Amino acid sequence: RIWLSLASRRAAMIQQPPWSEAMEKSSAKLFLLKKADLLSRFGGVAPKMAEEAHSLVIDQVVQKALDDAKLTGKDLSAVAVTIGPGLSLCLRVGVSKARRVAGSYDLPIIGVHHMEAHALVARLVERDLQFPFLALLISGGHNLLVLAHDVGHYVQLGTTIDDAIGEAYDKTARWLGLDISKGGGAALEELAREGDSHAIKFKIPMRQHKDCNFSYAGLKTQVRLAIESKNICAQKDSISSAATPHRKSQADIAASFQRVAVLHLEEKCERAIEWARGLEPSLQCLVVSGGVASNQYVRSRLQQVSERKHLRLVFPPPSLCTDNGVMVAWTGIEHFLLGRYDPPPPVNEAEDYV
Ligand code: KG4
Ligand code: ZN
Repeated sequence: RIWLSLASRRAAMIQQPPWSEAMEKSSAKLFLLKKADLLSRFGGVAPKMAEEAHSLVIDQVVQKALDDAKLTGKDLSAVAVTIGPGLSLCLRVGVSKARRVAGSYDLPIIGVHHMEAHALVARLVERDLQFPFLALLISGGHNLLVLAHDVGHYVQLGTTIDDAIGEAYDKTARWLGLDISKGGGAALEELAREGDSHAIKFKIPMRQHKDCNFSYAGLKTQVRLAIESKNICAQKDSISSAATPHRKSQADIAASFQRVAVLHLEEKCERAIEWARGLEPSLQCLVVSGGVASNQYVRSRLQQVSERKHLRLVFPPPSLCTDNGVMVAWTGIEHFLLGRYDPPPPVNEAEDYV
């Protein structure tokens, strides 16, 4: 059985001119650009322009996926598409395309929640993984602790009250002036390997709160103040090379930030395990997924948590932790097999749907 999934968050994103000029010149050129390139050049995402970028590439992206797999729409069984959370303008482009494909080939369609896909892809990687399991989902926009009882049946034990850990990694990397073309989190992880993780005493967030919620805004502020106090200016060219005098200070800040950011994850995760065991005494597995779960330091620290708590640990490989279409298709399969899907959209409606 063949599945098509459209994870619209993955397509190119852009922020401001002169990018719009380049877009007008050549959609083929845009197609080659990755989100990370655009983020590093322009520093963020502007919804309207991101929508335009999605619209420009969506047909080519879907066609290329089918061509690479040597398939046509006739070979598909269903279409799964991300319906949220995310930038609604961009999600709409994906949903519109999914409806057109499903309408044209008379296929059922399944709307997928982005964070559910991050959690359920663990069951693709480890096919014997049974419910219930606890999922720690750590990405740029979300920081969730979820008790998964069954497909579509989740209890949220904790969330962030402000920022997610990925956002804290990204901002710290940017403030330090790192080269973020491969992503801020990955750049920070690399630099942190050179630093002393106890050099700066950042305060561990939310220790006085006896719940499973997270907070990263305060840690971000502490990092910013540390960067300012050491007078490290975020000029990419002047401080990203190994030879600069700031390099040691930068690495110490990166390592100290990472130690505390991850310690916060560990503490709340251990608390959530206890809580989850009260709700589901048969709990046997911890899943850690989302872009930040690609981080080797995060992986090793949570490995230790799972060993202390005698839980099996499942980490999808980094390629399936960061946003990807496979996790969306797999989640579609999980729902489809339980009969949870929408009928094919009418062909006319699919044509008109924008
Ligand atoms: O799940 P994801 O790909 O997209 C969202 O749903 O947000 O996660 C992206 C986040 C970004 O903040 C990125 O910097 C972070 O994951 N990330 C990392 C690493 N690789 C990606 N953070 C820390 N270390 C990494 N190696
Ligand atoms: Zn994600």
